Formats: sequence, structure tokens, C-alpha cells
Amino acid sequence: MDVAGKALTDSDRHYREGNAVFDAGPGFFRPESRPSRDLSMLLACHQASRHDHGLHWLDLMAGCGVRALRWGQEAAAMAPVPPRIWANDGDPERLPWMTANLAPLSAAGLEVQVSARPAEGLLAEAFLARQAFDLIDLDAFGSPGALLQPALKTLAFGGILFLASTDGRSPTGHDRPGAVRHLGASARVHPSSWELALRQQLGLIARQVWMLGFGLEPLLSFSEGRTFRIAVRLLKRPRSGDEAQLGMLARCDSCGDQQHQTLLKLRGWPPCSCPQGQGRWAIHGPLWLGPLQDTALLAELAEIPVALASKTRQLLRRLQQDAAVVPTVWSTAELAQRLQLAGPPSLADLVAGLRNRGHQAVGSGVMNGQIRTDAALPELLQICRDLAEEGFK
Ligand SMILES: C[S@@+](CC[C@H](N)C(=O)[O-])C[C@H]1O[C@@H](n2cnc3c(N)ncnc32)[C@H](O)[C@@H]1O
Ligand SMILES: [Zn+2]
Repeated sequence: MDVAGKALTDSDRHYREGNAVFDAGPGFFRPESRPSRDLSMLLACHQASRHDHGLHWLDLMAGCGVRALRWGQEAAAMAPVPPRIWANDGDPERLPWMTANLAPLSAAGLEVQVSARPAEGLLAEAFLARQAFDLIDLDAFGSPGALLQPALKTLAFGGILFLASTDGRSPTGHDRPGAVRHLGASARVHPSSWELALRQQLGLIARQVWMLGFGLEPLLSFSEGRTFRIAVRLLKRPRSGDEAQLGMLARCDSCGDQQHQTLLKLRGWPPCSCPQGQGRWAIHGPLWLGPLQDTALLAELAEIPVALASKTRQLLRRLQQDAAVVPTVWSTAELAQRLQLAGPPSLADLVAGLRNRGHQAVGSGVMNGQIRTDAALPELLQICRDLAEEGFK
């Protein structure tokens, strides 16, 4: 018999992540999503080690309860006052596994609540009961937009919302009507599709936060192309000047040129780099133009002494190196193709060349093989050409 009191069968799936040993049961569980669970646990550890009041954490779409279990086993010990943990999944069939997996936490004296309720109802009741969570993990299927305001209304100021969306088609421009419906935005196909999808999602979160009169601080944003994950901290009021971070990004399909403008000063677009003005801008947005990562926080997360998957360590290193302050990103393969070069320039050489000419430049932390820079496209192409010629000398 397993811990849920059920006879073990071949379909039982036992896993270990960090200190947590659990049975994923027959429902949805993806071992490959470990980096996102590691990060959820690190955010909880970070919060636990910096607060001296009792924290309350909500794993809203918990599946088998693995995130709540990891919070309890790895992060709770770092809190001066034991946190309260609530794991919920709308599917009642997940309840026996959640209950069994989280039993060791209750046995260790933590206050743990387990439920099988629709997220919408749970959040509405929590709001009416004036409950405030310090960390909400919303690991949704599809587009989580409808749950944003309900979740934000139950988040304490300074609290963290860690959000997943598996709706890749709308924000990457492959379902333009869907983007209008889910994001209230124009989304077009772009070679830096993951970056644009994260900026679209963050733009939506910012608008929802601001509508409530609150502010936000983006903490981290990443994707592996399938799920788009963002963590934000809720602030009591918007940070000064943050409205300028919402804007539009334009890209010309013909020449690949890019421009961006804040909504606050939106006006006509200058000509792109196409000869004789024959290019046409495809417009994305409104989306978030500001930084995607809080690199100081990421450095602190990387220092927390817990076991992480090597993929998570790599992800943390990559994100730390690129705060994503500049929203224009180019695929080096695309640049090479436009110049008919044999292969893409080395990212390190390109970064050095751009910085030598006074530009901001960094390899993208969001997508491999992409350069983030404020240089205009003609100069970027010229530097690529120069590097290719130097390579032949
Ligand atoms: C991506 S899975 C969660 C995986 C889990 N967090 C993990 O890390 O393994 C999404 C879960 O959300 C649940 N779910 C979907 N819609 C829901 C809703 N409206 N309210 C509550 N749970 C919901 C599903 O039953 C499913 O278990
Ligand atoms: Zn053009």
C-alpha cells in the first residue's frame, strides 16, 4: 500500500525533488518542469528568510501538491515563524494524492490546508474573508488572465505572484484574434517569440495591477517555449514613472528593423531601414518595455543553500546576466542570414563590438543565440559584417 492508502500499481509514479519525496499519482505532472518548481521554492525560501511575521502561502493549482510540499520541506525551516501552507487543485481526484503527499508537513507541526475547489471560488471567498497570501503559485493550464485580478486582490503588499501560462499561440502572434481576446493586445510573429510573449503577459499583469491602484515589480521571467512563467511582487502603489514601461514594439518583416515607443508618447513611426520606405511595421502591444528580471534578487536566490537541478542553476546564471532592460532583441542567425554570412557571429564578439561603440549589449537570457542591444539595425549589421571580415583575416 502507498501513503494514500491505495494499492500500488505500475501507474504509480514516485519522484524525489530536493528533499521532497512524493507520488505524482495518475494526474498531470511534468518532471521537466523542475526548474519552475525549484524557483517557486527559492522564492519561498527568500521570503521566509526575510520576514519575521507568519507567512501564508497558496499553491492554487497544486496537482499532486509537489510545490506546497517543497515549500514546507525546504523553505519553512528558514522562517522564524512557521508559515501556513494551502494546497488546492480544482480536480477532486487529486485530493487523495495531495493529502498523502503533504501529510509529512502536518506531522512535522506545520499548519497545512488541502482543498479541491475551483480557483475562482477559493479566491473570491478568501477576498471576502479578508485573507491575504504572501506567495501565490498559479500554475495554470492555458491563459491565466481571468484569474489575475482575483489573485492580486488576495495578495499581501510585498507578496509574490508566480504565474504560468501555457497559451503560447496568442502572445507569439500565431493566434492574433486570441491575443486580442486574452491579452487585449496586438501580437505578431517575431524571431524573439518567447521574449515578446513574456512582455505581452507582463503588460497584461501591469494593467491589471494598476487598475486596482497597486504597483508591481517584475522579479523573473522565463520560458522553454512551451510555458511562459513570470514572478512579480505586488506593491502598495505604482512606482514613479512606471507607466512609461508600457508601450508598443514594431518590427519590419522585410528588413528586420525594430523600434519601440512608450504609450505615454505614442506618435507615428519613423521609416524602417528598407530602401525607399517600402517596408511596413508590424506592431506588437501594448506590452511591457521595462526590465524582465530583478538580477539582484536572482543573485540572492542563487546563494540560497538548497539542492537545485543543474538546469535550474543554468537558468539562474543565464537570467542573472541579462536584466532585459532593452526590449529590442535580434536573432544572430537572422542577422547572418540577412548578410549572407556562412554562420552567425559569436555572441561574445558581437557584445564586445557593440559595447566598444558605446551601445548597451548583452546576450539574451530569455532565448539562446540572440543579442539584446539598443544599437540601430544598420550599425548592428555593420558590426556583424566587420566581425565576419576579421574572421577571414
Ligand atoms: C499545470 S497543472 C499543475 C501542476 C503542479 N503545480 C506541478 O507543479 O506539478 C494545473 C492544475 O490546475 C488544475 N486546475 C485547472 N483549472 C483549475 C481551476 N479553475 N481551479 C483550480 N484548479 C484548476 C488542474 O486540475 C491541474 O492539476
Ligand atoms: Zn523595413
